[in-house]
Amino acid sequence: MQTPAPIGVFDSGYGGLTVFREIRAKLPQYDYIYLGDNARAPYGPRDFDTIYHYTLECVRHLFDMGCQLVVLACNTASAKALRTIQQQDLPKIAPNRRVLGVIRPTTEIVGKFTKTNHVGVLATRGTVVSQSYVIEIEKFFPKIKVFQQACPMWVPLVENNEHESEGADYFVKKNLGELLAQSDQIDTLVLGCTHYPLLTNKIRQYLPANVQLLSQGEIVANSLSEYLHRHLEMEAVCSKGGKVNYFTTESAAEFDRKAAIFLGEAVRSEHLTLVSVVGE
Ligand code: DGL
Repeated sequence: MQTPAPIGVFDSGYGGLTVFREIRAKLPQYDYIYLGDNARAPYGPRDFDTIYHYTLECVRHLFDMGCQLVVLACNTASAKALRTIQQQDLPKIAPNRRVLGVIRPTTEIVGKFTKTNHVGVLATRGTVVSQSYVIEIEKFFPKIKVFQQACPMWVPLVENNEHESEGADYFVKKNLGELLAQSDQIDTLVLGCTHYPLLTNKIRQYLPANVQLLSQGEIVANSLSEYLHRHLEMEAVCSKGGKVNYFTTESAAEFDRKAAIFLGEAVRSEHLTLVSVVGE
């Protein structure tokens, strides 16, 4: 039997904190390690292989720290790397460990919200190009039509703390307009990037009042809770002490400052050096 260890939560940067916040609120009894690959964010514009290798490298670090269960709190990594990691890497490197993503839990329930069966998805270019949302929603709700819009500037706005700025207004208005121009019947909008909830105030400002906004934090937290109820063998290897350790591949001081604003409490992270970041 494995020694119980924290649940790993991974994102390219700060976005995963929107999911982590809800996971911890729902499941406060567990220990967690959050890893943000801030040095290499954004992942969205990168190609498939790069996102896969970066994600796998971070997952391996979380495994090295003992994690038996890792949540990719990142749509781009879930879209581009999760399946390969689950199907090809885990059987070889860690057959008893598990890696979960954020796209499936979201697509499983989206049909409960839409009445028009026209659903909009805002995401990074990587996620949009992967068609993951279109493919997964089709499996669960074949009648739903999915309209996607890439918002390439939104993650940089959040990572650079510009999400409350006038520049953010410009890009939010522009990309929402592009999405809504694809269908005037969209009544449900999925924020398919874990960074985007930080832009919620701006999004609401430019979104017609009848359109519901789905962000993933609560959805993923509920899904993880159900997963742990169904998989008692995994639940048994998740340590319970209510502790959180944060790691970032960028400056720890910068991470602490931003993460604290965001989580509403003091954060003390450690810098994690990834071999491939050195010299980049
Ligand atoms: N927060 C991420 C997502 O959910 C990644 C954004 C990025 O690094 O481009 O897609």
